[in-house]
Amino acid sequence: MSKQIFINDVGPRDGLQNQTQVLMPQQRLQLIHSLTMAGLDGVEVGAFVSPKAVPAMAGTDEICQQLPDTNCNYSALIPNMKGFELAQKNGIKLASLVIATSNSMNERNIRMDNSHTLTMIKEVIAASKSTEVEVQVYLATAFECPFEGLTSSEEVIDMAAALLEMGASRIVIADTIGAGDPQAVNSLMCDLVKQYGSDNFACHFHDTRAMGLANVYAALEAGVRRFDASIAGLGGCPFAPGASGNVATEDVVMMCEQMGYQTGIDMTALLNASDLAIDLTKTARGGNAKTWLRKQYPIIN
Ligand code: COA
Ligand code: ZN
Repeated sequence: MSKQIFINDVGPRDGLQNQTQVLMPQQRLQLIHSLTMAGLDGVEVGAFVSPKAVPAMAGTDEICQQLPDTNCNYSALIPNMKGFELAQKNGIKLASLVIATSNSMNERNIRMDNSHTLTMIKEVIAASKSTEVEVQVYLATAFECPFEGLTSSEEVIDMAAALLEMGASRIVIADTIGAGDPQAVNSLMCDLVKQYGSDNFACHFHDTRAMGLANVYAALEAGVRRFDASIAGLGGCPFAPGASGNVATEDVVMMCEQMGYQTGIDMTALLNASDLAIDLTKTARGGNAKTWLRKQYPIIN
């Protein structure tokens, strides 16, 4: 299996959406810029959602107009057709829809039940086919929902199959509240990868119960090569009680590289981005390995 790992930093979206301190678009751009300097494969730059629902993501259009000209795959979260149209208009080439496994979570997040969400997703994907925009789908609460409890792997597999059938370019298995454990992750991802191939999937873990990195390892062992992570461990969903930060990008890169995988990421530049995330938000902690990493990759003036 390939030793190449693709990391998508979701700090500027998943990370910043939940902060009490709302950053200005220029500050968000500064963070995005520092992430591209580190050579990340992808960065989620914002969300085309209702500014009433998520005030911190207002101004994503302004950000899209000023993104650094690099090979980085910029993506944005969209909740519906209007979001797709805005993403397209603003030059985004990868739009991310989201559906939770549970009705309760979907209704809180995008004010739609699952069956309406699936219909909407089908329409958005169909519309995307005559554009340059690819649409991937986040399958949220893939292990547990804060309102409805444990999610069965059969449900996830059935939903993933339906979404791929609709033409989703990839499915991101998202542990929204950080409830998955390595065994559950490995078993689910082995089943999905065996049936549909590794490239159709990415994994998105939150570190609520300190199992984020163990879950990345479990997915790696199952053949997954694409991961979301968040600089300095920023993150959380405003609509999912208990959702804390994502697994930190610096921790994921360190583990993968130490195990002989290649991420193509410059650790010194990544740590600079982590410092900036902490400086801008005042709440991010930095990855668990940050102190040790800084000793190995000191600040160069
Ligand atoms: N972008 C910006 N504005 C949008 C929008 C979008 N994608 N979709 C709808 N809106 C606007 C409408 O134009 C309308 O504006 P108005 O009040 O000025 O007329 C308003 O939002 C309400 O529209 P409606 O279709 O009734 O939406 P709603 O109130 O049922 O809310 C969502 C649905 C999806 C727009 C809203 O819940 C949302 O943005 N959720 C985002 C959740 C999120 O980002 N979660 C992050 C974790 S995955
Ligand atoms: Zn998340």
